[in-house]
Amino acid sequence: MIILGIETSCDDTAISILREEQNTLTVLSGVISSQIKLHAEWGGVVPNLAAREHLKNILPLLELALREAKISPAQIDLIATTQGPGLIPALLVGTTVAKTLSFVWKKPLLGINHIEGHIYSNFIQLSAEQKIDIVRFPALCLVVSGGHTQLVLMRDHLQYEIIGETLDDAAGEAFDKVARLLNLGYPGGPAISALAAKFKPQNSEFKIELPRPMKISKDFNFSFSGLKTAVLYLVKKNESLLTDEAFLAAVCHEFQQAVVDVLVHKTLAAAEKYNTKTVLLAGGVSANAQLRRQLGEALAKFDPTITYTIPEAKYSVDNAVMIGAAASYRWNQMTAEQKTLLADNWRKIETNANLRLN
Ligand code: KG4
Ligand code: ZN
Repeated sequence: MIILGIETSCDDTAISILREEQNTLTVLSGVISSQIKLHAEWGGVVPNLAAREHLKNILPLLELALREAKISPAQIDLIATTQGPGLIPALLVGTTVAKTLSFVWKKPLLGINHIEGHIYSNFIQLSAEQKIDIVRFPALCLVVSGGHTQLVLMRDHLQYEIIGETLDDAAGEAFDKVARLLNLGYPGGPAISALAAKFKPQNSEFKIELPRPMKISKDFNFSFSGLKTAVLYLVKKNESLLTDEAFLAAVCHEFQQAVVDVLVHKTLAAAEKYNTKTVLLAGGVSANAQLRRQLGEALAKFDPTITYTIPEAKYSVDNAVMIGAAASYRWNQMTAEQKTLLADNWRKIETNANLRLN
């Protein structure tokens, strides 16, 4: 079957066309128009500006995606769109386009949770056999993005229990806010990890220590706002050093390591408690090389039988391929009657800024 995926929950307009055959996905096209430059001026995403850009870009991107995939509208079997969570003005553009196409082209329509999309970004590159070998249940997903930090227990496909989440800032949000304090621009994650890589402990005159908030709390929740505040105090005390690359590298390294330590520690504790067979990493922060590596190493040491999957870097951050991937799983688990009902979803689907996984 051919799936058209649409994603506009934040500052990326993204369209994908996937072919699903015998539980194996082939990406026919995945196009993205990023608005990073526009929002960088404001230090974060401005919802109405994002919506305006989505409106400008979405139909040309759709045309491009169809052309690259060599697919005509008549060949599409299912349309999938991000329904939430996200910024309402931004979400409305994608869902309205999806509903219009569903109505005009007479195609079934599925609303997908953006977080579910991130989780299923892990399944894009796996063959049908790998999916069974590598992903075993109960599975634990660490979802770390600009808007969310959650530990999600999956007892089976499409079944979610949120066992922990951030009480304040998301991990990606902390990267973005700390980058702002250090004048590194938006988004912060890539800038901080690039500077952190330049840190040489043996040569550095700076020994910086930041807290690991809630690392040893008994639950699986997180808190990153105290860490950000600790960086704020550090910056206030050392303003003259903000142009010193060695200082910035030392701060970025310690900040990144603090976030990674907490995420790895909590994920391992949850894996132990819930007897997890697989750990999946997902969301924009899963593009972070240190997090990818250190979580993998810690899991291998803790229990080498646990399988560990990470999305391809290009599918870590927001994209529409992951939305199509999640939709293919939803579709394959539906009865014929449930599938028929999707034809009417253009009337029913509503955006929801705070949509929860369930
Ligand atoms: O999933 P995503 O693209 O959008 C949301 O759903 O929020 O995640 C974006 C977040 C941003 O906060 C960005 O700073 C962070 O992911 N990010 C990273 C890296 N690349 C992106 N954080 C740490 N290290 C990275 N390499
Ligand atoms: Zn996202």
